[in-house]
Amino acid sequence: MANIKSLTGMQDLYDDGDMKNLSSKLFEVEKRIKDIFINYKFQEIRTPVLEDANLFIRSVGSSSDIVNKEIYSFNDRNDKALAMRPEGTASVIRSIIEKKLELSTHKLWYLGPMWRYERPQKGRYRQFNQAGVEILGIPEGFPEYEMISIICSIIQDFDLKNCVIKINHLGTKENKESFCQALVNFLEPFKKELNEKDQERLEKNPLRILDSKSSETKSILKNSPSIKDFVDESSIDLLNSLKNEFSDLCNIEIDHKLVRGLDYYSGFVFEAISSELGAQDSFLGGGRYDYLCSQLGGKEMPAIGMAIGLERFSEIVSLKNNQKKLVSFIIQTSNLEPKAYKIAHHLRSLNKDIVLDISLSEGSLKSKMRKANKNNADFAIILGEEELNNKSVVIKPLKDELKEQQAVSIDDLYSFYKAL
Ligand code: HAM
Repeated sequence: MANIKSLTGMQDLYDDGDMKNLSSKLFEVEKRIKDIFINYKFQEIRTPVLEDANLFIRSVGSSSDIVNKEIYSFNDRNDKALAMRPEGTASVIRSIIEKKLELSTHKLWYLGPMWRYERPQKGRYRQFNQAGVEILGIPEGFPEYEMISIICSIIQDFDLKNCVIKINHLGTKENKESFCQALVNFLEPFKKELNEKDQERLEKNPLRILDSKSSETKSILKNSPSIKDFVDESSIDLLNSLKNEFSDLCNIEIDHKLVRGLDYYSGFVFEAISSELGAQDSFLGGGRYDYLCSQLGGKEMPAIGMAIGLERFSEIVSLKNNQKKLVSFIIQTSNLEPKAYKIAHHLRSLNKDIVLDISLSEGSLKSKMRKANKNNADFAIILGEEELNNKSVVIKPLKDELKEQQAVSIDDLYSFYKAL
């Protein structure tokens, strides 16, 4: 029988402690991003990964790529259409509506896997991880500044180079509709020159043509109407103000061609891209979505948010191996294990900054020492029959050849370990 393999575009992630390995970086990145969210006083929300498929059809939009061809959906045993979440925002809003919390304000963060049936390539997976934040219940103004501030904090914390935050304003629902109509009127005469994908977009979701990768479409678009002529002056003022306030911290660019792949946006939108990422260069995206809550059957609730693609983000950060000190506890014979575990238990409580690795397998002292060295341990603690009879252990420094190993009493071991 053929071996069972993981599914296309889905990867096993494991932490081998090497900060050049994508998954090790991913774990560290998750930790630090969470801390930043918490520093901004966001609270965690965890929603199920499986939802009613209609949630995404009604939120992300029936004309979006996600709903058209990327959604992982299937019927359960009761013939109910379910979907693996392709993003986090819709589930957060569903949860707020269900708990009748639309009339208060919330600052929420989440982190976890998402699923999209995309054509896998570098930086594009079918299962990937996002960390996101949503500010709910507050209209345009202060939350826009908080969003850009948090993005700048993340970029600065990881010392990212070569990245740009692109910002745009799609105006009100009515502004967006008038602009769409003007864009369609402009593009109709060029319809035959557009590729199949852009022709389809022209029919179903004209705004997305602005995102086209085709050079013919890009050249046609050079003279197309611009959203900036359809939105209020206050929208343009907001973009300029955000750029003015934060440009000394991060590279911010107003891009009137920036549109987003999900249908629920209106007003302020943004994306952060890195020139180090290749074709899939956007590592973060978001914007305002004031109509989503009422569209999903809730009360009106202004909202804004963003999500970071953690695999793409991890690709562009370089992290130092900031590991904790490692001590290997080597037990010479298995009959000593109960005593050794008790000593190790006490050691762990004395100093939480040290990783204590107790040797679990059988083997000679030599092979256990070899393993401790291979693991790059700083010290080995060795416990044999003789030591136990003397109520002592041997401490052997592994990184400093000039330092001798020494036998110490268990009490002295505790003092030594505490001071490490
Ligand atoms: P999104 O732009 O669809 O927005 O996704 C956010 C980020 O997730 C992207 O910038 C990208 O880094 C990453 N991403 C998307 N698809 C893939 C994939 N197939 N493989 C790897 N990474 C991927 C949202 O999901 C919105 N919910 C963001 C938001 C929150 N808007 C308001 N609140």
